[in-house]
Amino acid sequence: MMQVCSTKDEFRSLLDAARREGRRVGLVPTMGALHAGHRSLIDAAVADCDTVALTIFVNPLQFAPTEDLSRYPRPLEDDLALAAAAGVDVVFTPTVEEMYPVPTVTTVHVEGLTASMEGAARPTHFDGVTTVVTKLFNLAGPCRAYFGEKDFQQLAVIRRMVADLDQPVEVVPCPIIREPDGLALSSRNIYLSRSDRAASTVLHGALHAAAEVIARGERRASTVAAHLSVRISAEPRAVLDHAEVVDPLTLEPLDELLPGTTVRLIVAAKFGSTRLLDNLGVEVP
Ligand code: PAF
Repeated sequence: MMQVCSTKDEFRSLLDAARREGRRVGLVPTMGALHAGHRSLIDAAVADCDTVALTIFVNPLQFAPTEDLSRYPRPLEDDLALAAAAGVDVVFTPTVEEMYPVPTVTTVHVEGLTASMEGAARPTHFDGVTTVVTKLFNLAGPCRAYFGEKDFQQLAVIRRMVADLDQPVEVVPCPIIREPDGLALSSRNIYLSRSDRAASTVLHGALHAAAEVIARGERRASTVAAHLSVRISAEPRAVLDHAEVVDPLTLEPLDELLPGTTVRLIVAAKFGSTRLLDNLGVEVP
């Protein structure tokens, strides 16, 4: 029977009790509006762990004042039904007051990895993410935590934070889940107009075309990045934010693509007022 709790004390004691019984805890942090991408994280946690905790919290700290905090979708009943059907044991749905009883003056900041791409476009975003994820890790205790590769920079930032701060968490990356036409699943896809939804497949198309360019022998990262930019900018409804070829761990932009390595192609573009992210791992032959 799934337990739903909204206080930090209850969440912490449920997971402490599970560990005392020798159960391995899996944690799936989300902001709700669950879709098949989240379901894949839960499925991975259920397959690996004995007790699976899902957190649903739309974290105000990671939204800038101009962003979509107030209109962010919050379909709690549907989310709880999905969680129960997927085999989640504990759902934590705190209020903002429960998570931040007083305005926090302590933030967790990961230097370097947060400066580019999403961090450049949304300067306060990653401090909000790393602060709330640290709080969730502190409440959950030692666990495996599941994050999607869709937010690839977030994943890299959280991995580095866990390593630097010795947080007792094993970060488990999970592959992107896509619509049949290639669009990466995201809770924000519902904002897209019909025309923007049709245009949005350019991101996935550009990533695969750039992977082809690498497969055909291109080794200059700048040329591959230019292919991505040209292809996305050719779509009149897309406003390109960035197209990068980076090291998957450090997120450093690459010069030369070395045979035998895996590189990450990362793109972001706006369609109307909706910002979409996508990425692809490519092995350099
Ligand atoms: O990826 C998300 O949904 C959020 O950034 C996270 C990790 C749950 C923190 O609020």
